[in-house]
Amino acid sequence: MAEQRSDVALIKQIEELQKRLDQATDILNALRSGVVDAIVVSKEDDTEIYQIEHADYIYQVLVESMNEGALTLTKEGVILYCNKAFADMLLINYRHLIGVKLVSLISEEYIGKFESLWQYALSGSGTAELQLQYYGLTIPVYMSCNTHSTKREPSYVFAIVSNISERKRAEEALQKAHYELERRVMERTAELATVNTAIKELNQTLEQRVVEETNRRILHEQMFVQQSKMAAMGEMIRLISHQWRQPLNVISMLAQDIKESYAFGNLDETLVNDNVNTIMQQVNFMSKTIDDFTKLFEPSKEKVRFDVKSAIEGMLSMFGQMFKKSNVDISIGTDQDSILCVDGYPNEFTHVILNILNNDKDAITSKIEADLQGLIDLHISNNEERDKVIVLIKDNGGGISENIIKEIFKPYCSTKREKGTGLGLYMSKIIIENHMGGSLTVRNVDGGAEFTISLDVSKSEII
Ligand SMILES: Nc1ncnc2c1ncn2[C@@H]1O[C@H](COP(=O)(O)OP(=O)(O)O)[C@@H](O)[C@H]1O
Ligand SMILES: [Mg+2]
Repeated sequence: MAEQRSDVALIKQIEELQKRLDQATDILNALRSGVVDAIVVSKEDDTEIYQIEHADYIYQVLVESMNEGALTLTKEGVILYCNKAFADMLLINYRHLIGVKLVSLISEEYIGKFESLWQYALSGSGTAELQLQYYGLTIPVYMSCNTHSTKREPSYVFAIVSNISERKRAEEALQKAHYELERRVMERTAELATVNTAIKELNQTLEQRVVEETNRRILHEQMFVQQSKMAAMGEMIRLISHQWRQPLNVISMLAQDIKESYAFGNLDETLVNDNVNTIMQQVNFMSKTIDDFTKLFEPSKEKVRFDVKSAIEGMLSMFGQMFKKSNVDISIGTDQDSILCVDGYPNEFTHVILNILNNDKDAITSKIEADLQGLIDLHISNNEERDKVIVLIKDNGGGISENIIKEIFKPYCSTKREKGTGLGLYMSKIIIENHMGGSLTVRNVDGGAEFTISLDVSKSEII
C-alpha cells in the first residue's frame, strides 16, 4: 500500500516537473523569439525588472536615434510607425502621425512625383526629391523607399527621409551667385561692346582725321615747294641777269659802233666781221649761261652717287665771279683721304650750298664796317667713324641774332624785308633732311655763322 502511494506521488511529481519544464521551455522560446522584453524577478524584500536586449533592440535604438526620418508604412501609404527625427522635421509629436496617409504630407506640386516614387517602391525600391508640407511649413526632402515582404506578414514599405533644406539653400545660393556672375559678365560684355564701338568710331574718325591732316600737310608742302620754285626761279633770273649784264653791254656797244661807222662811212668788211664775231662770242656765252643755270635748277629725278667737293666746285665755277665782285672770298678745304661721295640729288644739294653762300654774302655785305673782306670757309671731311660726309660753311658776317637763330629754318623767317623770301633755309632743310636723309644745323661761331651739313657716305663706299 505504501509502495502504491509512493508510485502515484512519483508520477505526480514527474508530471509536475514536466509541466514546469514545459513552462521553462516556453519562457526560453519566448525570450528567444523576442516576445519578452523584460523579466521581473521577485526577491525577499524587493522586485527587480531585467530588460532583455534582444537582436532587434539595437536596430530599434539605431532607428530612434538617427538623424534621418524613418517610417514604416502600409502598401496604401498609411504611416504605421515613424521615428522622432521625422516628426521633428514637421515640428509635431510622432503620435499624431501614426495612421496618417503620407501623401497628405506632400506638397501639392510634388504629388505626381511622389506617386511615381510609390509605384517604384511597391515593385522594389525608389528614390525622389520631394517637398513635405504641414501647416504652412515646407521642407525639401530626399525620400528613399523599399518594400519589405515576408510570407507570413503583409508587405510593408520602409521610407528614409532626409531633410535637404541646407543643401537646397546652398544650391540656391550657388545658383544665385551663378546668376549674379552671369549678370555681371553680361554687364561687362555689354560695357566692353560699348567701349569697342566707341573705339571703332574713334578709330574711324582718327583714320579720317589722319587722312585729312596728311592731305593738309601734303597741300602745305606742295604750296611751299611751289613757292620755293618761284623763289628759285627768281634767284635764277637774278643770277642770269647778273651774268648777262656784261655781254649785253658789249653787244649794245658793238651795235652802236656798226651804226656810227656806217654813218661815217667807215664800215668795211673787217669791222663787220670783227664785230659780228665778238657779238657771237657774247651770245654763245649768254646761251651757255642759260644752259648751265637751267641744268642747275632742274630737279634731279633719282638718287645718284656724287662727289660733294666736285659738285660744289662745279657750282662755284659759275658763281664764283659773282661772290668775288661782292668782295667775298670762298675757300674750299678737305682732310686728307676723306671719303666725299654720297648718294642723293646733286642739283638740289648745290642749290642748298648756293642758298647758304648767298645768305653768308648778304650777312657780310650788310655789315656796317666798310671794306670788310668777306671770307667764307668751306671745309669737307668725314666724322670719326668715317660713315658721314660733313660740310662746314663758316662766314665772317657777324652771325645770326640769338632771338631768331631757332626760327631760321621755319618758312617765311627773314630779316631782309622785301628782298628776302624766308624760304631758302626752310627748303634747304627739307632737301637735306627729308630727301637725302642727312641733317642741316647752324650755330654762331667767332665772328660769324657756321652751317653744318651731314650726309651718309655713299653705300658703294662702305665695304
Ligand atoms: N650766314 C648768316 N648770317 C646771318 N644771318 C643769317 C645767315 N644765314 C641766314 N641768316 C638769317 O636767316 C634768315 C632766313 O634765311 P633764308 O631762309 O635764306 O631766307 P632769306 O634769305 O630769304 O631771308 C635770314 O633772313 C637771316 O636773317
Ligand atoms: Mg636766303
